[in-house]
Amino acid sequence: MTSPLLVTGGTGTLGRLVVGRLRAAGCEVRVLSRRSRAPGAGVEYVTGDLAKDEGITSAVQGAAVVVHLASDKKGDAEATRNLVRAASAQDRPPHLVYISIVGVDSLSFGYFRSKLASEQIVAGSKLPWTTLRATQFYDLILTGAQKAAKLPVVPVPSGFLVQPVDADEVAARLVDLALGRPSGRVPDMGGPKVSSAAELIQGYLRATHRRRKVLPVRMPGTGPIRAGGLLVPDKPAGPAAGRRTWEEFLAARLR
Ligand SMILES: NC(=O)c1ccc[n+]([C@@H]2O[C@H](COP(=O)([O-])OP(=O)(O)OC[C@H]3O[C@@H](n4cnc5c(N)ncnc54)[C@H](OP(=O)(O)O)[C@@H]3O)[C@@H](O)[C@H]2O)c1
Repeated sequence: MTSPLLVTGGTGTLGRLVVGRLRAAGCEVRVLSRRSRAPGAGVEYVTGDLAKDEGITSAVQGAAVVVHLASDKKGDAEATRNLVRAASAQDRPPHLVYISIVGVDSLSFGYFRSKLASEQIVAGSKLPWTTLRATQFYDLILTGAQKAAKLPVVPVPSGFLVQPVDADEVAARLVDLALGRPSGRVPDMGGPKVSSAAELIQGYLRATHRRRKVLPVRMPGTGPIRAGGLLVPDKPAGPAAGRRTWEEFLAARLR
């Protein structure tokens, strides 16, 4: 592909993996970041801020595909709206590939609501689009486990059901989607196993040879998560099925 692919959020956990895979596939890559950065091997950085509507036109200029991964805990809808507006004003509007989260339509947390609103902005645009929902990345679970394991007694939200996935497998799927035809909403991607938060923490404690008591704590307002709201509704299959387990991820990461 001769036109560059723009990756928003290309400096983040998922984005770095997507950029690496796009480079390995021989693509020219442009990354939008809020901080100015020197160009890397085959990667051009454009400074801009999606939420403040700054630098987006230069970032999308001439891009055949925009992989939109940028995200802020405060919410993503305004940023997505600004990106869609700039992309739609191009002479040749790009294919917009968006990453969302499994369960955004069944859980009503503010961040999830903003992801659902972003999905709707993408689908309601006149751009050709593809949206993939994924479950929580192992990196996110690891960060939480590392913090929690600093305490002598480790609190875990009781009954939380999750189906975490390896971010690099999500990156591989996104690259396939970005290099393919616009597909609308594609099947949700999740990891190979449904686990409780307590099981994941215990796996981390075992992998790091720590002895801690795990204390399940009932968190108000999380009934939908205990009821499976974060799980892929149908068993993931084909390219939507992550294969790497939590144990394999930990073994590689903690080496
Ligand atoms: N983490 C998970 O478990 C998970 C699960 C499913 C889906 N997702 C989705 O996957 C995406 C990536 O998640 P992640 O955990 O990899 O994110 P992350 O590591 O927190 O990275 C966030 C990225 O967003 C960029 N960004 C934030 N605000 C921006 C703004 N106003 N303008 C431009 N760029 C901005 C940051 O770039 P700079 O700091 O360089 O500006 C950074 O590259 C998100 O859309 C998230 O909702 C995440």
